[in-house]
Amino acid sequence: MTTDWSSLDPALADTTVSVTIDGASVTVPAGDTILDACTAHGVDTPTICYAENLTPVNACRVCVVEVEGNRTLVPACSRPAEDGMEIQTDSERVRHSRKMVLEFLGTTNDLSEAPAINAMSERYDADITRYATDHARFDQDVKIDDDLYIRDYDKCVLCYKCVDACGEEAQFTFAIAMSGRGFDNRISTEFDVTLPDSACVYCGNCIGVCPTNALQFKTEFDLRRAGEWREDEQTVTRTVCSYCGVGCNLELHVQDNEIVKVTSPADHSVTHGHLCVKGRFGWKYVSAT
Ligand code: SF4
Ligand code: SF4
Ligand code: FES
Repeated sequence: MTTDWSSLDPALADTTVSVTIDGASVTVPAGDTILDACTAHGVDTPTICYAENLTPVNACRVCVVEVEGNRTLVPACSRPAEDGMEIQTDSERVRHSRKMVLEFLGTTNDLSEAPAINAMSERYDADITRYATDHARFDQDVKIDDDLYIRDYDKCVLCYKCVDACGEEAQFTFAIAMSGRGFDNRISTEFDVTLPDSACVYCGNCIGVCPTNALQFKTEFDLRRAGEWREDEQTVTRTVCSYCGVGCNLELHVQDNEIVKVTSPADHSVTHGHLCVKGRFGWKYVSAT
């Protein structure tokens, strides 16, 4: 979620800032981040822990850019653009840093269901076999607690998005948090209990923001295991949830004439991509006979 600094400081309202991006002058509204400015200028900036419906937490560092006068690289997703900033998005230092981040992530995580991150690795020529091949975080059992969603933490890049979506960014349930240190650092329920024994209310907002499919619908998981997940054949139909009067938008992902999962658009003004258990999982009746 982009922080609207102008709402905090009236002096910023209706003002703009001008920055230089890779030598070109770019003017954006005051309060926009460097990422916003890059996007406005048509510069494609890689992001993993950033989401437009969450506040940046700077966990992944794949979006870093070089800012003249700054000793270290800065995360574009959270740093506000300031008047006169000279920003380099494609310098040797930036490319090297992004490549290192992607190599570390690729070494320690199963990114087989993260095509967007794999595309970044290709773009930055990241060699995910460069470091240890006995992936330290691999070989955890997939957690299957129920028929709604699974947790495959071999795929978890510790981006924090699910924790924030479950917590104060959306759901305010706080069912999951970071646990452990070093290689034992992981996402966990309280005391590592199963989901049904945790505070989880099955809104699925954590699934909606996960960039690696570490959290995924059980329907998708089952179809993938059976070799029948065919995303390129699926249709996505946008509709309004009929369970109550709030007006959440649903995106129904349909394969072979059956709903296989439900997402929600992050840019929708009612719920910003977040749903409750009814909208997220209450669709089995549609295909019931
Ligand atoms: S389904 Fe909702 S309540 Fe449960 S862990 Fe995910 S975000 Fe939290
Ligand atoms: S489970 Fe997904 S959303 Fe949560 S920290 Fe891991 S990669 Fe990020
Ligand atoms: S996307 Fe900016 S730090 Fe992760």
